[in-house]
Amino acid sequence: MTAVEINGRDLAQEIKDEMKVEVEELNRKGIYPKLTVVLVGDDPASKSYVKGKKKASAETGIESELIELPVSTTETELLSLLNGLNNDNSIHGILVQLPLPDHINEQKVIETISPKKDVDGFHPINIGHMMTGNDTFLPCTPHGIITMLKSRNLQIESKHAVVIGRSNIVGKPVGQLLLNENATVTYCHSKTKNLQHYTKQADILIVAVGRPNVINQTHLKEGAIVIDVGVNRLEDGSLTGDVDFDSAKEIASYITPVPRGVGPMTITMLLKNTIKAAKGMTR
Ligand code: GUN
Repeated sequence: MTAVEINGRDLAQEIKDEMKVEVEELNRKGIYPKLTVVLVGDDPASKSYVKGKKKASAETGIESELIELPVSTTETELLSLLNGLNNDNSIHGILVQLPLPDHINEQKVIETISPKKDVDGFHPINIGHMMTGNDTFLPCTPHGIITMLKSRNLQIESKHAVVIGRSNIVGKPVGQLLLNENATVTYCHSKTKNLQHYTKQADILIVAVGRPNVINQTHLKEGAIVIDVGVNRLEDGSLTGDVDFDSAKEIASYITPVPRGVGPMTITMLLKNTIKAAKGMTR
């Protein structure tokens, strides 16, 4: 079997085209969705992610503003800036790019952003709504993954989904969203013994480790759906995922490539959340 590739870039483009029309409709009603991104310091990877967010916003007609702060910014200064953004009615979505410098408490920052403007879906209130299956801002990468599966009408209900990785941004929430879709979910992580024992049972395998070649065809059940969340930069500057793509595609039924896989979907879901915020659709 050679797996069908789920191209996230093409799907993201389709969704962005639909959102552009939606934004135009909102504009006619006098609503101009706006996203403010805050970047502290000059980490090259973060800068590149932020640039991608700005470009995608522009393509969809969403206004975006980038606030770049020096690495010396204090926690108090950042929290006070966020309080100002919370109270600015022209701003619908606020995103603080992570990771933050060590002297700033990330959790404090996440909890300072108003849950109504939390387009990352990281605020504990929004995490709570996600866990109970209520409508809220869903975290972008997990939401992008579910959207990719649904775009191909792939059944999630009653399937065994195995998630490798337990980060707050991807692993934990994607497992929760799969559970909300009635999958049976197993989490694996760095302390899991005999990883292959679990991956071999996966109908849907989500790989979010952050290391190349963690998974190859020897880990897979015939016909498994493989979602590769990894973005690893190799020494030659090229990007690769966590999965050995050429090996896994021989066994999998569907697989996501890197690049052009989950990455573009993450940004698209961020824009979706910004439109949702502009419509005032959250509790
Ligand atoms: N850094 C890496 N991924 C993300 C993300 O989804 N949101 C934010 N705010 N920072 C990140």
